[in-house]
Amino acid sequence: MKTLVDITKTAPPSDQPATIRVPEIEKGVGCDFDSYLLVPDNTLDDRIAAAKSRLGKNVVILGHHYQRDEVVKFADFRGDSLKLSQQAAATDAKYIVFCGVHFMAESADILSRPSQVTILPDLNAGCSMADMADIGQVETCWEELESVGGLKVIPVTYMNSTAAIKGFTGERGGAVCTSSNAAAVIRFAFEHGERVLFLPDEHLGRNTAFRMGIPLEQMVVWDPFRELGGNSPEQLRNAKMILWKGYCSVHQRFLPEHVDRVRREIPGVKVIVHPECRFEVVQKADSIGSTEQIAKIIRAAEPGSKWVVGTEIHLVNRLSKELPDRTVQSLDPNVCVCTTMFRISPQHLLWTLDNLCEGRVVNQIAVDEKTKQWARVALERMLSLV
Ligand code: 13P
Ligand code: SF4
Repeated sequence: MKTLVDITKTAPPSDQPATIRVPEIEKGVGCDFDSYLLVPDNTLDDRIAAAKSRLGKNVVILGHHYQRDEVVKFADFRGDSLKLSQQAAATDAKYIVFCGVHFMAESADILSRPSQVTILPDLNAGCSMADMADIGQVETCWEELESVGGLKVIPVTYMNSTAAIKGFTGERGGAVCTSSNAAAVIRFAFEHGERVLFLPDEHLGRNTAFRMGIPLEQMVVWDPFRELGGNSPEQLRNAKMILWKGYCSVHQRFLPEHVDRVRREIPGVKVIVHPECRFEVVQKADSIGSTEQIAKIIRAAEPGSKWVVGTEIHLVNRLSKELPDRTVQSLDPNVCVCTTMFRISPQHLLWTLDNLCEGRVVNQIAVDEKTKQWARVALERMLSLV
């Protein structure tokens, strides 16, 4: 008889490897993650497929476009943050295994029913951008904005933020957005207020607002480490967009010089970038889109066309392999990888599924009820707009 240990009770804090806190799990029975590091690579696929089929309709695997091939091939649904959140809200499966990063799994938990369980196969799969806005800093920012008086600010938070910030946003009349619907959500915010506090990605906020016709002079950056975010009350009164000083360390790597170089070197090239890229890069690109939109545009393009893509390398390589009749390559000459997305390995996926087969839930993501209530409001506002 195998020992059943619910390791959700002993889940490690997110800054520690998920392997550290599970020594009490009986070795060799398929529940200690360390033993999964010894599973021969050539047996992983068969074992994942077998565990998945044993779980049947009880499990749904969601995979973000940045996941590695060895993992995403097992996803029942793959997509961008918006598509995956819609799937999470629609699925009847008891277990939602989210192959993505922490904020995505939190959103799935918020949108799912109480009887459903959301799992992140490696708790260390975070997001450096989401970490750039802490709820305490955001609350201080709000108080300081209120102290200026009469600003009528509506918060909009990018999906890439913690559940606490989504809850904060929902409670103050705002909504979540993703990279594919930011304009619609900002429009909604302006129907209810005069200014938008855009969290936590300054680039997505600036790129979207500029394309909506808001001039750069009406945008300010809020630096959480400075009083009034580094602005004068006058600057805040003149601003339509207050952009939190946060960014994605992966997309920040792309530079306008990269665009100039590929235009010189590849005649007829089309440059397509994610809106998390810097404003100067987006200005030089031919198109802009979420991961799902990038895939859609390149799939619909003419055979023989040449594409240079400013986003994470796994999606770029996958499109290149899938579409051999056109050229698809990265805008970054060096490999541009999201290392936290990469943490979800086939071993983690198998470990998660094997445990479920044994009746154990590991690495559950459970947002507390109070936060959930307002975060759901913010997410549902977004979903009602798209
Ligand atoms: P998408 O919504 O475009 O998938 O973006 C999520 C993300 O984290 C991009 O870095
Ligand atoms: Fe976060 Fe950037 Fe990775 Fe997306 S690519 S999950 S924004 S760190």
